Amino acid sequence: MLEQINMLREKGQNELNAITSTDQLPEWYHQYLGRKGDLTSLLKQLGTLSSEERPVMGKVINEVKQQLQESFELRQKTLKETKLHQELEIDDLDVSLPGRPCTTGHLHLTTQTLRIQVYEAPEVESDEYNFQLLNIPEYHPARDMWDTFWVNDEVVLRTHTSPGQIWAMREYYPEPIRVILPGKCYRFEQITPRSEHQFYQVEGLTIGKNIRLTDLIGVMSEFAHKMYGAERKVRIRGSYFPFTEPSIEIDMSCSCEKKGCRLCKYTGWLEVAGAGMVHPVVLRNGGYDPEEWSGFAFGMGVERPAMLKHNINDIRRFYSNDLRFLQQF
Ligand code: FA5
Repeated sequence: MLEQINMLREKGQNELNAITSTDQLPEWYHQYLGRKGDLTSLLKQLGTLSSEERPVMGKVINEVKQQLQESFELRQKTLKETKLHQELEIDDLDVSLPGRPCTTGHLHLTTQTLRIQVYEAPEVESDEYNFQLLNIPEYHPARDMWDTFWVNDEVVLRTHTSPGQIWAMREYYPEPIRVILPGKCYRFEQITPRSEHQFYQVEGLTIGKNIRLTDLIGVMSEFAHKMYGAERKVRIRGSYFPFTEPSIEIDMSCSCEKKGCRLCKYTGWLEVAGAGMVHPVVLRNGGYDPEEWSGFAFGMGVERPAMLKHNINDIRRFYSNDLRFLQQF
């Protein structure tokens, strides 16, 4: 029997070594190690041996079974790896080929037309755009309201988003305009709970035929109610800006509900926007004939309305980068 076992081991090992494809492996396994395989039938023959020989032969058969099992697993692993390498060689990826262009979708033309235009004007502005074209000549006392950081004698960090009105008018003339101009502004400012030296504004500009002050008040009231809810009060005050005539200021009732707090300077109201009808000089500087066209504009802070919405009592929190504050929103 020992001879039979050794022959089987040698034959099994040789045949396994000769296998070149993983497809042939199940057949080999079935023949040598399967439930009806050669080794199993040898184990079944143990019963015919004497009681001394039986455990010795049983041990040898199990050792051979173990060896062939290990050889089988090794062969299976080697063949799988070879197959993978061959496949990779056939499907060889040529990394030098140009990639396929990545196509991204975009807004449908109708959506584009329906959406209001958003115009980005420069943050670093000339004196001409920031002041002169907005009807604020050199030495005009209104410049005191907008002292800022000067890059040189002619260039400033813009004090408001209003110069964007000129950029937009000059670009869109002679079309009617409905545009929003968001962006950062700078002022040489005493820093307080409601005033920073850098802050955001959103400018709004509408130019068309028969645009009136009531259109402006309607837009601002609708915005306030959409943003804060109908219960929030809006107050319109007469004001002065050199680039609008007439000019108004828009206040919103403070979140302290008129109890009075530092933010609203104990008045119950917080100024959120300046606005008015575009001054004829500014219309003309933008290319529009004031005899034919009219328009309204507003410039709204971003931090102050956000403070009202979220009950934040100090504007300095926006730029102090304290994560305990920022992570709350
Ligand atoms: C202006 O800047 C005008 N350009 C607004 C305007 C536009 C008027 C178009 C007419 C037509 P004012 O200086 O009031 O106006 O600023 C507008 C808003 O910006 C304020 O209501 C306030 O919400 C915000 N704001 C102004 N200064 C600061 C500041 N230092 N810190 C935070 N927010 C500010």
